[in-house]
Amino acid sequence: MDNNLDLQLNEALKRIKEVKNDCLVKDFLDLKNDILGKKSFISEAYKTMKDLSNEEKKELGAKLNNIKEQLNKAILEKENEINKYQLEKKLSEEKIDITLPGETFTQGGVNPFFLVKNKICDIFLNMGYEVVDGPEVESDHYNFELLNIPKDHPARDMQDSFYIDENTLLRTHTSPVQARMMQLHQGKPLKMICPGKTYRRDNDNATHSHQFAQIEGLLIDKNINLGHLKATLELFLKRLFGEERKIRLRSSFFPFTEPSVEVDISCFNCNGKGCSMCKGSGYIEVLGGGMVHPNVLKMNDYDPNQYSGFAFGVGIERIAILLYGIDDIRRFYTGDLKFINQFHKKGE
Ligand code: DAH
Repeated sequence: MDNNLDLQLNEALKRIKEVKNDCLVKDFLDLKNDILGKKSFISEAYKTMKDLSNEEKKELGAKLNNIKEQLNKAILEKENEINKYQLEKKLSEEKIDITLPGETFTQGGVNPFFLVKNKICDIFLNMGYEVVDGPEVESDHYNFELLNIPKDHPARDMQDSFYIDENTLLRTHTSPVQARMMQLHQGKPLKMICPGKTYRRDNDNATHSHQFAQIEGLLIDKNINLGHLKATLELFLKRLFGEERKIRLRSSFFPFTEPSVEVDISCFNCNGKGCSMCKGSGYIEVLGGGMVHPNVLKMNDYDPNQYSGFAFGVGIERIAILLYGIDDIRRFYTGDLKFINQFHKKGE
């Protein structure tokens, strides 16, 4: 009997030892069941104990416990060996070559054109202005007529245009959006800005481009006067160029405003003393504006006896050129990364 048990133990230990590390889980479980399960030789041997004397039970019990312990230990060791092997195999198969160069992401800059456009829009949004859009292909009627610039008006000479047909052109300024918005609001108070592209037939050079951009502003309500325009532009320009700037209005002429003004800021380079940037005058011209002409109000459904308003127009590139000291207007449009990438942080 004892000999038989030893043989079976050795046989079982041998089977466990021979299990290959890449065996199927099922096969290993079957083996485990064979060796330790209900029908295994060890379980059968335990069953024979009931017919034995106390003395014999004690002896056989100790022997069987020892066998079982050896079997459990061998199975556990094998299990660990298999797990270790499988894990190592998996790791080696999924090995990542960390010496391969990774993908690099370069952070782009923001074209200063957009830095300035967004900044101006933010300032006016904070003052409660609506930001609107208008068509770039415009009719003569909106681009000129409704702005008090009739067919033979000499002011048309200042805005040489790209005509598509006799009555259609690429807008020469964002001012036609004034007329469009007035008609849309039908005689009610109105407060808007409109950023957008504009076109003029021009010889491109460092300061001129056939395509450029403006931001139009328009406010209409009851009892609006030039003081409101001045206060609004002062706030705007101080936010844009710095609190220490002074502003100056000079009288000017635009067909769609009366009175009309040209607006200057004290030179931020020399603080008004006079330098090459302000051509010795201490002031730099930044935009045009004025009180909406009664004819324009009338033509666009507002009663000039009840309503008045102010308007202004500002060139986006011109402001960006001043703010960032840019030497050539064409830099905004050529997409040169050497230029654009200089503006990583300036807009933050
Ligand atoms: N439209 C004018 C231009 O392109 C700029 C301008 C001047 C717009 C005065 C206005 C204004 O709204 O009131 O030269």
